[in-house]
Amino acid sequence: MHTRNDWYVACTDADVTADHPFSSTVLGERLAIWRAADKVVAFEDRCVHRAAALSLGRCEGQNLRCMYHGLLFDAAGKVVDIPGQDVIPPNAQVRAYPVAVHYDWIWVWMGDPALADPAKLPTLFDGVDLDDYGVVNGELTFEANAQLISDNLLDFSHLPFVHAASFQAPLDWAKSPMTIKQLDNGVRFERWVENHTGFHFIESLSIGVNDTWMGYDYLVPGVLVMFVGCFPAGTARACDYGRPDFSKAIAQVSTNLQAITPVTEKRSHYYVFTGLHRAASGGGSDPAIVARNLEVTLQAFNEDKTMIEAQQQIIDGQPDRPFMPTVHDRGVTLYTRLKARLIAAETASHADAPLENAN
Ligand code: FES
Ligand SMILES: [Fe+2]
Repeated sequence: MHTRNDWYVACTDADVTADHPFSSTVLGERLAIWRAADKVVAFEDRCVHRAAALSLGRCEGQNLRCMYHGLLFDAAGKVVDIPGQDVIPPNAQVRAYPVAVHYDWIWVWMGDPALADPAKLPTLFDGVDLDDYGVVNGELTFEANAQLISDNLLDFSHLPFVHAASFQAPLDWAKSPMTIKQLDNGVRFERWVENHTGFHFIESLSIGVNDTWMGYDYLVPGVLVMFVGCFPAGTARACDYGRPDFSKAIAQVSTNLQAITPVTEKRSHYYVFTGLHRAASGGGSDPAIVARNLEVTLQAFNEDKTMIEAQQQIIDGQPDRPFMPTVHDRGVTLYTRLKARLIAAETASHADAPLENAN
């Protein structure tokens, strides 16, 4: 189960060309995403005539034409032309979903269009300006339920084990405690690792002993916002183990956004962009280091993919066997409960609403 009154990433801005719609599936619903002259539009991928895929259609300025028998739709989803027929039935309309173009991704609001709220689009942390970062985009498909990916991102104690080859996280990352805080729309994780030597997966950025801060929010419906940076030794204590002034970071400064889109119950799409700060010891102005950052990130996410897809198969084989939580599952538990509350609230408000087509 997933919330519906939220933004989900359906594709990247680059996926949607000027001429042809892009086919994407979110929460099991096929979408045809296309570029009208002045905006991006998301339709249900089903022509009102005989259920042809509108994602196989053709963009014609402000309109989209179904390329089966030629019905023409305006950007609101209304049929405006039926070749060879003068009368257009008044209910000749497909569903159009609210769309936002945000951080070069196309976000689609899957719930009540009247509630679509741009303020619910996730943003990077205050004080992080993406223009200061060398950014790269990546994406993967996991043959697994999105909740298993959320569970993975809500418990970073897997880093030294799953990501020994990629991120080369030392074991103390599993041992050093994270501060975990419930947010209205997710869970916040923050951690200082004192007397650390940074991550070594980009050797040229390695520095001496420092205090490393990592913080991330994991937000409903499945978006991770993160900042990591190395600070001069003693910073953790000096700021009483609270959130540092990001501008004082000295090396390996990175930020990223990750979005998990449930495609079906057994398939998820994983969008990520990751940026390294352009300062010398951040590496973000060196194209080779920026490319290496994406390479290592995708290597790491493929490590997760191997683990999670096998986990999904094992669960499918014995779906009723329970898990055995550990101390590291606190974030998972908080998030799972929050999501259940939000889904219940959506269901309740839906039940209050007058039934459509009640006659
Ligand atoms: S199915 Fe679209 S025009 Fe016939
Ligand atoms: Fe991971």
